Amino acid sequence: MDDALQRVRMTPRLEVEGTLTRVTGLVLEAAGLRAPIGSQCLVRMPNPQGPRGRAADVLAEVVGFADDRAYLMPAGDVHGLRSGASVIPAAAFVPVPRLGEPESEVQPRSGVLRLPLGDGLLGRVVDPQGQPLDHQGPLVDVAAQPLDRSPINAMERDPVREPLDTGVRAINALLTVGRGQRIGLFAGSGVGKSVLLGMMARYTEADVIVVGLIGERGREVKEFIEDILGAQGRARSVVVAAPADAPPLLRMQGAAYATGVAEHFRDAGKHVLLLMDSLTRYAMAQREIALAIGEPPATKGYPPSCFAKLPQLVERSGNGLNGVGSITAFYTVLSEGDDQQDPIADAARAILDGHIVLSRALAEEAHFPAIDIEQSASRVMHNVVEPAYLDSARRFRAIYSRFRKSRDLVRLGAYAAGSDPELDEAIRLQPAMAAFLQQNMFEGDRLGDSMAGLQRTIKAQAH
Ligand SMILES: Nc1ncnc2c1ncn2[C@@H]1O[C@H](COP(=O)(O)OP(=O)(O)OP(=O)(O)O)[C@@H](O)[C@H]1O
Ligand SMILES: [Mg+2]
Repeated sequence: MDDALQRVRMTPRLEVEGTLTRVTGLVLEAAGLRAPIGSQCLVRMPNPQGPRGRAADVLAEVVGFADDRAYLMPAGDVHGLRSGASVIPAAAFVPVPRLGEPESEVQPRSGVLRLPLGDGLLGRVVDPQGQPLDHQGPLVDVAAQPLDRSPINAMERDPVREPLDTGVRAINALLTVGRGQRIGLFAGSGVGKSVLLGMMARYTEADVIVVGLIGERGREVKEFIEDILGAQGRARSVVVAAPADAPPLLRMQGAAYATGVAEHFRDAGKHVLLLMDSLTRYAMAQREIALAIGEPPATKGYPPSCFAKLPQLVERSGNGLNGVGSITAFYTVLSEGDDQQDPIADAARAILDGHIVLSRALAEEAHFPAIDIEQSASRVMHNVVEPAYLDSARRFRAIYSRFRKSRDLVRLGAYAAGSDPELDEAIRLQPAMAAFLQQNMFEGDRLGDSMAGLQRTIKAQAH
């Protein structure tokens, strides 16, 4: 008895336990739970019937409340849950301890999501809960840490000033990316997003690559890691995969975790490249959650919270404090062809510092990477390249655009050579320009070479 009392006194705090009263669709409703929004809970069956008398607990997160009812989203399968199950704030998730190291002296507060962060993640593939998916044994050299960091004050963040070599010629030369920039990759399905992200993962000048695969098909995850990323990309990468069949809460958590991993390496002074595929599926997961707990839909079925979540996620990447580390991030945004009305694409365009549009027409012409340079823009390019080079890039765009606009006329033979000197020049340079913009997916192009190549291409007129 004394022993038991002693143990009760040792418990850091008593958590209020709730009872599961309702499950509708995706949402669990609990009465009597006093856990704050965002905290993790375990839903436990009253008379456990699992192996050795213990039913598997279902992890869930508090996503809303009304009076004394808390709404939770499950992170796992709710099959078999019954009314009356207890809902208990979860103990912090602690990954496999490092051998020979003392236990952390800080008692982790229960209910706060903690996920493994550390150098041991390099080269690994994990799920949104920090469990390895690559069959390479448990994670080592990681520690369980909370993901929520205080955001960096905008005034203390270093501005984007240095160019970043992405290894992709068309981007390097015409859409020069700066370290710490956040760019959207807008494309419909099957036009080469994954291949382009893979090229960047292999050839970008970065210390660490973090890839968040959010809401994609399961098969695509394996393909991306094995075929596209390859051994070269994988060695310096961390992949967080939350495929389409994961519950919406985990898809969102996957994006937050990938960002958290990038922040971890950035704070250690590394230059990180974060590739998130896709931001649209992240917003869709939030839409599922928000609609399920009763938030009214606004634009095209997306409740307002979806638009609030996007900048919260995106603002976490960027340059670190005082020049220490950076996160340059690419977020893919699904935009089907002509649908310029897609509210997520609109919102993303507004919060990102640049957009690269992949065009289906180019992909159909087997022009890869299918980057539509006329529609794409890097908002920091003028900060990271010399003014003289900016002029060359503008000139390239102008000539290229001149040809694309009159292309049908030229092809039909309706244009008489000689009547417009500018168009004549554009027609003459066209093959070289098109060749310059295309690139084999297994070859990287260095920034200096890309820029010199652009200047050579437009100077070909001189003789
Ligand atoms: N740089 C490239 N060079 C040659 N072929 C390419 C290149 N990029 C893409 N492709 C071709 O386009 C196809 C589709 O590319 P990818 O899988 O990257 O598209 P996606 O936009 O990721 O598609 P999904 O929307 O289905 O995920 C590839 O199978 C490949 O044949
Ligand atoms: Mg893809």
